[in-house]
Amino acid sequence: MSEHKVTALVTGASAGLGLEFCRQLAARCDVIVAVARRKERLVALAQELDGSVEMHCLQADLGTIEGVARTLEAIRQQGPVDYLVNNAGFGTFGNFDASSIESQRAMVNLHIDTTITLCRAAIPFMRERGGGTIINVSSLGAFVPGKGMAVYGASKAFLNYYSLALQDELAGSGIAVQALCPGFTRTEFHDQMAEDGFDRERIPARMWMTAQAVVEVSLAALGSGQVLVVPGEDNRAMARFGLQQQSDSLQ
Ligand SMILES: NC(=O)c1ccc[n+]([C@@H]2O[C@H](COP(=O)([O-])OP(=O)(O)OC[C@H]3O[C@@H](n4cnc5c(N)ncnc54)[C@H](OP(=O)(O)O)[C@@H]3O)[C@@H](O)[C@H]2O)c1
Repeated sequence: MSEHKVTALVTGASAGLGLEFCRQLAARCDVIVAVARRKERLVALAQELDGSVEMHCLQADLGTIEGVARTLEAIRQQGPVDYLVNNAGFGTFGNFDASSIESQRAMVNLHIDTTITLCRAAIPFMRERGGGTIINVSSLGAFVPGKGMAVYGASKAFLNYYSLALQDELAGSGIAVQALCPGFTRTEFHDQMAEDGFDRERIPARMWMTAQAVVEVSLAALGSGQVLVVPGEDNRAMARFGLQQQSDSLQ
């Protein structure tokens, strides 16, 4: 029997948090399958990590059935994947009734359909092996519904509820589920939103975190049993405020 290689599959690995997950998981893994549409970025990352981990670059559009199918095939071939990081995502900015329904549906598809599909494929292998880790990259926006980001926040709230229930269902399996809920993080995420009118300058400097710090918090929380992980004290205060507002609205 061949020796098991500790393997991670990271979606959205060509930039921001996904790229940083690959960098930090390289210390824990033998193999990383990095998935995104921009192949040249993945190849550059593979070159950067050359020697520390075996990298597989999978160019796939996870908004398409074909791209998801090829990623599922990678999970099947690598199975069991030890770390599944569902990170690929994007945000739009603008009032819902002024937005294109195609962009909103594409966001729901990528954040929700793709995530549950990859989880459904990976979990049986993890169960068979008796362990594994799933990190679903959610958002602080899941706690604080925001004008201009109605569908975005709702899609991330789905990931929180889904991750909490999934962890309950997987109790005793050795599989850990985390919904990572970053606040403002310096990545390429806001580039398109800025073109749509989002003003980065309105966010106080102390609210911004680096991708490196966010991923460090995520990985450090593994093993704690914590499902909802909100990096940063200010962000945790914001999340509590959002939950309190929901609670107050029931009275
Ligand atoms: N930055 C923040 O402030 C922040 C806050 C809370 C949550 N988040 C969440 O963090 C996650 C990562 O975002 P980020 O901040 O790292 O943004 P980013 O720098 O824009 O990176 C997004 C990644 O997702 C990939 N991606 C997007 N659409 C894809 C598709 N259809 N198929 C495959 N890959 C796709 C991109 O790769 P390609 O373009 O090469 O395909 C890229 O690698 C997202 O889920 C986002 O919602 C971010």
